[in-house]
Amino acid sequence: MSAPSSASSSSLRPAPNPRARIYTGTARNLARLARVLRSGGLVAAPTETVYGLAANALNADACAKIFTAKARPATDPLIVHIRALAEWDTLAHVNPAALRLAKAFWPGPLTIVLPKKDIVPALVSAGLPSVAVRMPAHPLFRRLLRLAGLPLAAPSANPFGYVSPTTASHVRANLGTQIDHILDGGPCTVGLESTIVDLRDPSRPRLLRPGAITRAQLEKVLGVRVLSAPPKPRAPDAAQLAPGMLTRHYSPRTPVTLHPRLSAAAVARGDATAAWVFTARPRTVAGKNIFWLDAQGDLPRVAHNLFALLRQLDEAGFTHLHFELARGSDGLADAINDRLRRAAARG
Ligand code: TXA
Ligand code: MG
Repeated sequence: MSAPSSASSSSLRPAPNPRARIYTGTARNLARLARVLRSGGLVAAPTETVYGLAANALNADACAKIFTAKARPATDPLIVHIRALAEWDTLAHVNPAALRLAKAFWPGPLTIVLPKKDIVPALVSAGLPSVAVRMPAHPLFRRLLRLAGLPLAAPSANPFGYVSPTTASHVRANLGTQIDHILDGGPCTVGLESTIVDLRDPSRPRLLRPGAITRAQLEKVLGVRVLSAPPKPRAPDAAQLAPGMLTRHYSPRTPVTLHPRLSAAAVARGDATAAWVFTARPRTVAGKNIFWLDAQGDLPRVAHNLFALLRQLDEAGFTHLHFELARGSDGLADAINDRLRRAAARG
């Protein structure tokens, strides 16, 4: 039996010839990485959600390097990270509802989509007339923002379509041959990407991606219902109106099947070459291919451990991964299950 603490990066196969160096957050390293960003380079850095791959958001050439390193299609827009509210007005047309959300949840795991201003390069917004902005809470990312003195575009620091990284070694394992600089801030506390809300029309807010800030929390501050994401765009090359609108996203290579409830009987009947992942530690099932996301099934801990365990199991040679869905009406269960469904989607 394995505890989630074994979901460390130690089992990740390193990239064949990683050129990336991992930096600790010393004043000297941060100053150096800020210089890299100011001169148009890329730096992978920790946020409270997942690691991001950052570049100067106002420099289209710098941001183009993000798309190349991630093999990200130009139709998938980037999130712009800011340090202070005053920067927001320079990037977007901010409305009072957006400001209320920002005051309630920033710095934190919430991204707000608004009409963009011309200063934001078309490449960053994938040609859309809007821009997604977030103020991250991670102290190292905030120091990098302050030292660079720039808004930073930063998608998750993973190859397009793969599981997002929650440690510096995840980033190195995936992008170590593509980038030079990784700032290590330890494991990300939240572990799931930010909630994204579209507030272009403040009377009809839309939840584009569920995350740690829940729909109920947004509704409480806004005083109106938060609608769901619009249906998927038909044209495969249409700019993505919401994240992960491609069916397959956040996907491990090993096939994943989801279960509303996993039982000892299901595991006993199942394939011995598969891994079985419970949300909480099962009382009646044991075996070396049995895992759980948190001993008590505590949802913030489940979210925190999910991507690391997905990666660990993806590297471990199982033929199949069986995951139990998170239960309950807590909005975080929605966010966890959203990522699990994307991991399970094929093609
Ligand atoms: O937690 C996070 O949000 C992390 C950290 C690094 O901040 N970033 C992140 O970025 O998850 P990424 O690229 O993996 O997801 C960004 C998503 C894109 O998939 C895109 O669809 C959506 O944000 N997005 C960006 N700009 C948008 C816009 N103008 N309208 C609608 N969606 C947008
Ligand atoms: Mg991503």
